[in-house]
Amino acid sequence: MLNNAKWISYPVDTGFECPMLFKSFKAKGAVKRATLTISAHGCYYATLNGARIGDFIFAPGCTSLKRVQVQTYDITKMLSEDNEIEITLSKGWFKGRICWRGTQEFPNNNECVIAELAISYKDGSSELIVTDESWGAKKSPVRFSDFYDGEHFDANFVDESPVMAKVQDLPKDVLVPQQGEIIKEQEIISAFKIFKTPKGETVIDFAQNLTGYFEIFANAKKGDKISLSFAEVLDSEGNFYTENYRSAKAEFEYTCRDGYQSYKPRLAFWGYRYIRVNSFPGELSLDSIKAIVVHSNIKKTGALDSSSPLLNQLFKNIFWGQKGNFLDIPTDCPQRDERMGWTGDAQVFCRTASYNYDVEKFFEKWLTDLRLDQGKDGCVPSVIPQFWGDGWSGCGWGDASTICPWQIYLTYGNKDILKKQFNSMCAYLKYISSKSKNRYLWTGCDHYADWLGLDAPAGSYKGSSRDDFLASAFYLYSTSLVIKAGKVLGRSVAKYEALYEKILKAIRKKYKKYKTQTEHVIALHFGIAEDKSATAKALADMIVANGTRLQTGFLGTPYLLHALSSNGYSELAYDLLLQEAFPSWLYSVKQGATTIWEHWDGVNDKGEFWSKDMNSFNHYAYGAVADWVYGVACGIQTVEEFPGFERIVIAPVPTDKLDHLSASIMTRHGLVSSKWYHDNGKIRYEITTPSKTTVIIDGKEYNVEKGSYIF
Ligand code: BGC
Repeated sequence: MLNNAKWISYPVDTGFECPMLFKSFKAKGAVKRATLTISAHGCYYATLNGARIGDFIFAPGCTSLKRVQVQTYDITKMLSEDNEIEITLSKGWFKGRICWRGTQEFPNNNECVIAELAISYKDGSSELIVTDESWGAKKSPVRFSDFYDGEHFDANFVDESPVMAKVQDLPKDVLVPQQGEIIKEQEIISAFKIFKTPKGETVIDFAQNLTGYFEIFANAKKGDKISLSFAEVLDSEGNFYTENYRSAKAEFEYTCRDGYQSYKPRLAFWGYRYIRVNSFPGELSLDSIKAIVVHSNIKKTGALDSSSPLLNQLFKNIFWGQKGNFLDIPTDCPQRDERMGWTGDAQVFCRTASYNYDVEKFFEKWLTDLRLDQGKDGCVPSVIPQFWGDGWSGCGWGDASTICPWQIYLTYGNKDILKKQFNSMCAYLKYISSKSKNRYLWTGCDHYADWLGLDAPAGSYKGSSRDDFLASAFYLYSTSLVIKAGKVLGRSVAKYEALYEKILKAIRKKYKKYKTQTEHVIALHFGIAEDKSATAKALADMIVANGTRLQTGFLGTPYLLHALSSNGYSELAYDLLLQEAFPSWLYSVKQGATTIWEHWDGVNDKGEFWSKDMNSFNHYAYGAVADWVYGVACGIQTVEEFPGFERIVIAPVPTDKLDHLSASIMTRHGLVSSKWYHDNGKIRYEITTPSKTTVIIDGKEYNVEKGSYIF
């Protein structure tokens, strides 16, 4: 791929000023077809004769540093007789602040591009224009760009001293065809209101926390400045609040030219609901700026609806949380100085994600990066791509390597994902056994464990569930998934079956009692508890004694409602789902959240922030509760033997606490939907299924074929 082209760059590192590589050329005759094949270390923004090429935002995307995706664009219609191609580069995910590892691994290379422009003429001749030392290089009007810190653009800037491009000595074997979904502009949101804060600052509210950029429209004089800052929330006094962005400056500066103009940032994104206007030429109106939502081009497949406006807002927030964090990789958050592919967050949310949107291709790409960045010892780094240097796996985080492939297989029914990931899944188990102090338990290692659990000791982020118990439980769970995947692939799994039994025995022997809500949840959900009904009762009692409130963090929360409803406590599960007081899902909704918060108490009931530095308002993890709504409350379940909804079980669990609830998923076989509602003292069920389905209502089974049914 790109065999004839060379990697080229600006001759020296321009820091965070964006360089531009360019070339002028003439078309030699009538053009039949022209394509541009291109990739970059860093992100590129390419234009031909001033018009943007393609609609892939932040191309070539975010991958392991071991590979770079290549894109091909049909540019036939864009060619003229005289042409100028210009490619602006940012450090992006290559050597921007987001990627510490890039600076370590490529100390001598700055951002660079490689491209081939293939033109076939109507007279049968052809021509290839490739990046090489004949290209020019200059500084671009993007005077500054960094994902964390934002963008500065000078509409008047012209580099009067262009130079020749430098050929960079970088291998081409890292080039791979585009694998993931491309990132695209998805929605435009109008400004909702403009207001003055108590401090006197001018702020625009978009009424939705979102990820992306914006377009500004201004009538200005040359040299006028537009300066914007971004925030997710206002503080308790109603002032603009940015401390939770930590070191991410998240700013936008624009120097105007004369006349009417509009501009969309080219190489940066922000997570925001509010924009503070620090300066703006002329009159600022609601039409001066529009928000542009940007995310991976995943197709919406899921829908949830209920009779409760608060619950419906929670559902909305869950979808927005996914849109805001599926930007080529599953990120933890889109606003502060992280925006990383945290493995724990991804595995927690994977099932919900796969019902809400078609994320098969998205996860296939990310899991490829996981495989590539997995250590030789099987270690799965905490963030994928591995932009940080850590070389250890924590329980519930490293397990993304087993949980995500299995879930993607279940939702979409394609064995290939298991084929590709199976060795990585097994290597992860090997890693655990090589690090653990104990043969059949996972002990003596570092973990994030029940991250952000509310039973954390003062000053700690970590809930008080025991590391070694949780780690051993995830060791067991991942082993079970390796067994299942191995069976699907026809591999011999006897060794893992024996391992599973030994881990189970060892956990049961060592942990007779569970201490926290999360420990109970995990013991139930992973099949560890021998006396399920006593364990479930103990969990239920703890929740009730706590005022019908949860205390769970990242590892307990996703399974909490499942553990209750699978063991006779569905009503209590509903009580937690519908709880409005802190801590609960609906608490944040009542506080005005439009996305899912990182912390149950992101804002406490006095309006104060949980913390200054670790407080994202767009973290999708706790949105994983949607999978209980799809799978239990509305009862739409995959069947492991017939994955991808080739066969379905629909076993809704209604409650008197809601008048109606419905869920639907556009599966690979068609639409499945399940709705129940109260009707004159009875419950009616409306079910549509695309496949052979077992409907279970009040314990009674009905086997139905594809079709729509009312019960
Ligand atoms: C991230 C999380 C992540 C965690 C590791 C945080 O800074 O935002 O979501 O999983 O670190 O515990």
